[in-house]
Amino acid sequence: MTALTAVRGMNDILPTQTPRWRDLETAAAGLLLARGYQEIRLPVVERTALFQHSIGEVTDIVEKEMYTFIDRGGDSLSLRPEGTAGCVRAMIENGLLAQEGASHRVWYAGPMFRHERPQKGRYRQFHQIGVEAFGMPGPDVDAEQIVLCARLWETLGISAVVLQINSLGTPASRLAYRERLIGYFSRYKGDLDEDSRRRLHTNPLRILDSKNPVLAELIAAAPSLPDSLDAASRVHFDGLCELLDGAKVAYVHNPRLVRGLDYYTHTVFEWVTDRLGAQDAVCSGGRYDGLVSRLGGRETAAVGFALGVERVVALLEESGHEPSSAAPDCYLVWAGEGLAAPALQLAEELRRIKGARVMQHCGGGSFKAQLKRADRSGARFAVILGEQEWADRRVQVKPLRENLPQYSIPLTELAPWLVGQGIGDGLASE
Ligand code: HAM
Repeated sequence: MTALTAVRGMNDILPTQTPRWRDLETAAAGLLLARGYQEIRLPVVERTALFQHSIGEVTDIVEKEMYTFIDRGGDSLSLRPEGTAGCVRAMIENGLLAQEGASHRVWYAGPMFRHERPQKGRYRQFHQIGVEAFGMPGPDVDAEQIVLCARLWETLGISAVVLQINSLGTPASRLAYRERLIGYFSRYKGDLDEDSRRRLHTNPLRILDSKNPVLAELIAAAPSLPDSLDAASRVHFDGLCELLDGAKVAYVHNPRLVRGLDYYTHTVFEWVTDRLGAQDAVCSGGRYDGLVSRLGGRETAAVGFALGVERVVALLEESGHEPSSAAPDCYLVWAGEGLAAPALQLAEELRRIKGARVMQHCGGGSFKAQLKRADRSGARFAVILGEQEWADRRVQVKPLRENLPQYSIPLTELAPWLVGQGIGDGLASE
């Protein structure tokens, strides 16, 4: 029998790791909420055709990385390799973009699946926090999203990221550039590798993304994208640069940045780091004005990005981020005849303190053994309830982190006493 282990490239996120994940999720959700982005939850499985029509047939993702299967009804379905396609589908299908001038800001978080070769920072199940805005054609919302990312790094104490931006222009200027690239690379067809030759007429922009060192020189000398931009595309890009300058967000204009998905127009951007080896993109996105109409909706401007949660968490770790504590405030130690119900009641009462974390000992054992557990839990106080204490309607409170004496406190005064010690945010009113 095959060992019952996890699938390669699909990781367990253990309790020791989740506090950092939560810190990132909490910070991102707070910044998004503050800017009017609303959460949307989407299926993990979609029709394969959705990804073919949006990400593009001749992309690494669709050509070789999707988890595709035929379900019992005979439909070809795929685990989502990214969130934008499903989000656009949902917006159209639920009529959210049906009215002229409709505008929406949404975000989502969850697992994505790509059958890539696993290595540090690259997994087959990975997680994204994705952000999409619909119905706003100007560079103002591009800037809003990029500045949001900058605030997120600031909030999390991440400094090892650099912003790269570029413009792919309108579909027409992208097409003109495509033709120039085909002309250029055709002249050197014999020097191209197999992948690039195959892409020459289907997706020549992707040749620019090739990591093959043999092609580096050829790519460096290729026609540059900014020269192919039309006036409107230039105005959009200059507008974005001006807004980023005004917001004091530093960026590098990388004219070779084309992104691996076909739906982009105008702005594309990537936050990259040199701290995670080969997997340098921690957050990427751009504008995709043509996608909503391509998938059957009305013509709608759109822009978005997604950050790779594993990669941002790795950066947090690398930058020495201290994860928020998951330790309880109090650990209730109890033993004695007939005390199970009062102990449970006491724990529930203490949990009425807003924001307090109260862990009740379960599983029996001596006071000594329970106190050891209390200490290991990281709790600040052990609250001790024995037969004598219960008879006196009191508890002992033992500080576990400070060198202080043990207190004896009447049950009725315990909650206000703990609040007085700075536990929780105050007593919840009935
Ligand atoms: P993407 O560049 O394919 O864009 O992925 C976004 C981010 O997901 C990357 O920057 C990276 O941090 C992370 N990522 C991608 N693949 C992996 C992997 N195998 N393992 C770990 N992390 C990974 C998109 O997915 C677009 N939907 C972004 C977007 C939203 N554009 C507009 N709206």
